[in-house]
Amino acid sequence: MAKVTLSLIKADVGSVAGHTAPHPKMIEATKSILREGVQKGIVEDFMIARCGDDISLIMTHDKGENNSQVHKLAWDAFMSAAEEAKKMHLYGAGQDLLAEAFSGNVRGLGPGAAEMTFEERKSEPVIALLADKTEPSAFNLPLARIFADPFTTTGLVIDTRMHNGFIFEIVNVKENKKLRISTPEGLHDLLAFIGDITKYAIKRIFSKDSSIGIAAVVSTEKLSFIAGKYVGKDDPVALIRAQSGLPAAGEILQPFAFPALVSGWMRGSHWGPFYPSSQDDSNPTFFDGPPRIVALGFQIRDGKIQGLETDPKPGEHIPVDYFKDSSWDAVRRQAMEVAIYIRRHGPFMPAILPPEELEYTTLPEIQKKFEDKWEEAD
Ligand code: F6R
Ligand code: MG
Ligand code: MG
Repeated sequence: MAKVTLSLIKADVGSVAGHTAPHPKMIEATKSILREGVQKGIVEDFMIARCGDDISLIMTHDKGENNSQVHKLAWDAFMSAAEEAKKMHLYGAGQDLLAEAFSGNVRGLGPGAAEMTFEERKSEPVIALLADKTEPSAFNLPLARIFADPFTTTGLVIDTRMHNGFIFEIVNVKENKKLRISTPEGLHDLLAFIGDITKYAIKRIFSKDSSIGIAAVVSTEKLSFIAGKYVGKDDPVALIRAQSGLPAAGEILQPFAFPALVSGWMRGSHWGPFYPSSQDDSNPTFFDGPPRIVALGFQIRDGKIQGLETDPKPGEHIPVDYFKDSSWDAVRRQAMEVAIYIRRHGPFMPAILPPEELEYTTLPEIQKKFEDKWEEAD
């Protein structure tokens, strides 16, 4: 079997009525650029998806990761969507395209990228996780559960190809350094790092079975570090390969039954529960949220995407939209209870993030205004 690269590149380039949803014309614009990309042989196949105001381009090709042609195609697709957004004066039009011009690679220019290269197995199921109103470390807890917690993933106990565990690559997002930790033996070391979601994010996970290779990858770009100021949230995406020596689809989804608190809700400055939703239900309608998570399943076959459609054409794929199912209603209800509860704290901690994590703050101005007015306390 040939090697295939799966590139998920995402950006928020504008939306309707706040940070809510991209306009259908924007989605069409990305499709038309990627269709040209297929004709030119830059990518083999693609699927467009979205979560809240973020558009995800899921592309297959044989050019490897960080390929300048593939990244340029994604950049052009987002530019074209941003043009549509600008024409309609949509909100935040072009917001994640931080550079004037493309220069070799989207990394560092604004869009987020999760890319993986692997040898296709006999059957290659993949799940794309798309999140809105949160940041890359929001995946730390669910990924640790999926790949290192036998109480979530029974496969770690009873599948011989998973029994030896997985290798986690984590990044210090503030210093741009990476580290690999092998589990289960390094589990407690891993948790010591990734429990701090202000600093560490899981980037990649590898199977210890050499015939499998990479198992998962997360986009870990920090937009505000790139731009040097608040420019919107670095809403993350992840790709996970499933089944046959890797966690089953159900083991991958199960951690989302816990609506864990993640950072980045409203103004990138609040804690809120992860709310599992379908693509169509991913509009952030409650206090710009709560932070959404969408899970889409599809198959890769000879470098092409196979969804639920009967006659697959490039770009026309229909994924399995896992959280659309009514079995997730109970989780959504619990997430809303948590959301309503935490909102009752208003601008008080722990509803808002600590000062250094706020995406923007008036605090320095207020401190300045009162700097001469403080007196010795008695
Ligand atoms: C955007 C987001 C939103 C905005 C908020 C304020 O991803 O999380 O909650 O931060 O709507 O947006 P501005 O500052 O653009 O008015
Ligand atoms: Mg946004
Ligand atoms: Mg967003």
